[in-house]
Amino acid sequence: MRDAGRIAAMVLDYITPHVVAGANTLDLDAKIEKFIKDNGAVSATIGYKGYKHASCISLNDVVCHGIPSVKTVLKNGDILNIDVTVIVNGFYGDTSRMYWVGEVSEAAKKLTRVTYDAMMAGINVVKSGLPLNEIGNEIERVVAPHGYGIVREYCGHGLGRKFHEDPMVLHYAHPAPNSPKLRKGLTFTVEPMVNIGGWRTFTENDGWTVRTVDGTLSAQFEHSIAVTDDGVEILTESPMGFKFPPYL
Ligand code: MF3
Ligand code: CO
Ligand code: CO
Repeated sequence: MRDAGRIAAMVLDYITPHVVAGANTLDLDAKIEKFIKDNGAVSATIGYKGYKHASCISLNDVVCHGIPSVKTVLKNGDILNIDVTVIVNGFYGDTSRMYWVGEVSEAAKKLTRVTYDAMMAGINVVKSGLPLNEIGNEIERVVAPHGYGIVREYCGHGLGRKFHEDPMVLHYAHPAPNSPKLRKGLTFTVEPMVNIGGWRTFTENDGWTVRTVDGTLSAQFEHSIAVTDDGVEILTESPMGFKFPPYL
């Protein structure tokens, strides 16, 4: 799991200098696919439920599962999430980060920072014995004061020898008196999607692209993590030390 996580994080490091105005997202995806292969890993998303690409690239009001396209050309002021999942020796590593193109609005910067802080708050509370629902409670504690919407239809997930498995990790506060307790060795993702407006989303007719209903900007970060003896280990930490934008 460490090897898979590290290579997934290396992909996001590698693509960073290529995320510039004028780049199209199909070209970014092609670069990502090649980098994954060159590092001896396999893309988990190519062929997954009919998905054809090595990354999801989600711009502005796209919440997740944006399909790379030659027609999607980055422009100054865009914010985007790039999400990659790789398989290494049968194990999955799944991670995503936000990127900024040129000068972005103060509103976009704040959304990005709050979403990162929310993910990290959800991760940092993790330890053996913690009721699973406390992760969502913690994320909502960070997001709520800003009035943003936390997406409810998509959640974090267990991963290991499979892409998506139990448990489902909800990113919003919810009472759960019988919430299962985390145990050492459990590996899963924390990947909150946060919208400036409401939490509601819809899926386009392409069957993948998820957008905010109200058209407001959406941000997401994702780490794969492991519950350890004394807390938590982030498996997809950036080897280059990239946390949130601006990176360079
Ligand atoms: N990487 C996404 C996740 O965090 C799943 C993408 S599935 C795809 O779970 F088919 F859209 F690529
Ligand atoms: Co995931
Ligand atoms: Co992902």
